Amino acid sequence: MDADFGSKRYLDLTFHIQTFGCQMNKHDSERIAGMLEGLGALPVATVEESDVTVFMTCCVREAADVRLMGQVSSMKNVPLRAGSPLQKRIVAIGGCIGQRDGGKLLDELDHVDVVFGTNNLASLPSLLDAAINDHERTAETVEESDAFPTDLPTVREHSWAAWLPITIGCNNFCTYCIVPYVRGREKSRPLEDIVSEARSYVASGVKEITLLGQNVNSYGRDLYGKPRFADVLEAVADTGIERIRFATSHPKDLTDEVIGKFATLPNLMPALHLPAQSGSDAILKAMHRVYTVDHYLGLIDKLRDACPGIALSTDIIVGFPGETEEDFQGTYDLVKRVGYSQVFTFIYSKREGTPAAKLVDDTPRSVIQERFERLRTVVEDGALAYNKASLGKVVPVLFEGPSKKEPGIATGHSPENINVHAIVPEGCSIDELVGQTRDVLIDEARTWYLRGRLA
Ligand code: 5AD
Ligand code: SF4
Repeated sequence: MDADFGSKRYLDLTFHIQTFGCQMNKHDSERIAGMLEGLGALPVATVEESDVTVFMTCCVREAADVRLMGQVSSMKNVPLRAGSPLQKRIVAIGGCIGQRDGGKLLDELDHVDVVFGTNNLASLPSLLDAAINDHERTAETVEESDAFPTDLPTVREHSWAAWLPITIGCNNFCTYCIVPYVRGREKSRPLEDIVSEARSYVASGVKEITLLGQNVNSYGRDLYGKPRFADVLEAVADTGIERIRFATSHPKDLTDEVIGKFATLPNLMPALHLPAQSGSDAILKAMHRVYTVDHYLGLIDKLRDACPGIALSTDIIVGFPGETEEDFQGTYDLVKRVGYSQVFTFIYSKREGTPAAKLVDDTPRSVIQERFERLRTVVEDGALAYNKASLGKVVPVLFEGPSKKEPGIATGHSPENINVHAIVPEGCSIDELVGQTRDVLIDEARTWYLRGRLA
């Protein structure tokens, strides 16, 4: 690894990172930006202005895969910017597709210079060096690494919010999912490292930390003394950070101890993303999710006992191989019964190499699409009903910036992670609100946001 970030070797170079997929990818992109800026390169907003373009890719579903290939291919036709010190734009592909396809991408796409895997972030500067100086085309995709990307510098998108990875990889092997194959086995970061990074964020004015991992609830099983996720929550809460969130939780590992933290830690925000995936025991079994609908609903009851009003969100897959109308009805009923504040619904996407790819998958597309649409209505009804409960209430909103569409409106998030649009009184600057928490009186509830005025 070339760790000499102070040498400013990339002065005059511009870079652009195009990120697809999950928060872990977004976080990795912030690390890459940190490294490249540390070397003197300048971030730019578009591919056209960039000398170096990095694609951070996702292969969880086929659609993202196809979109990426389209975008990378179209790069061929984007001329190098005037004044670029390079003869040719450098194109790098990282993230999950980089890890999965490695050197194959170099064979298929002759304008791509660098491919790097999910464990190779730290090598990127030296791979780019070889491409820039020696016109070498390289793919580096090691399967395991001891280095957490967090050992690298970072440039965060927002000064007041930080993502903090506590585990990487996944051991669950849900039968539809490619993640364990491209992100490797689960590894936990030592508690002391997590706490010291959280402390440094608090000292630098960060207001919200989101703890990240494919399955944060299984944190620590690979560490000496087996610290638990509840210990992480406690320790990060002790740093005095204003808001803590975490994602993602697997229902089979969510413990009573963690649920209890929603009652006892005031800075743990009342919002939980708990992917159900399906409301049919038969489908959950075929997915290798290792819980039943009853178990899941039991968790929801415990969460609501510990933290009344908690915002629950979930992921649902529609059209898993063999899903019958009855199975789907189970999912519909589950979504209706829980009343989620948000549901991410996905149509099953076959991923080669996963166990589910071998299952008979003969449900007509039109049936799956119709189920998907039916689910959408119950999702929207649930979200609106959840938001309506905030009408007339004063909620503390951590502000992010001006609304992109409406002047005079500032946007931010409530503790429940609901998007809030607030009318700002004349004379009050939205810029000054950014990164600050202010009370907002809610007078309008929509499906995906709340509206109100600064109290
Ligand atoms: N097809 C559709 N959705 C998937 N997900 C993961 N793999 C697939 C797949 N093959 C969804 C799951 C997961 C979310 C991040 O993506 O719902 O929770
Ligand atoms: Fe994929 Fe399941 Fe791991 Fe989530 S828990 S990353 S869905 S294998």
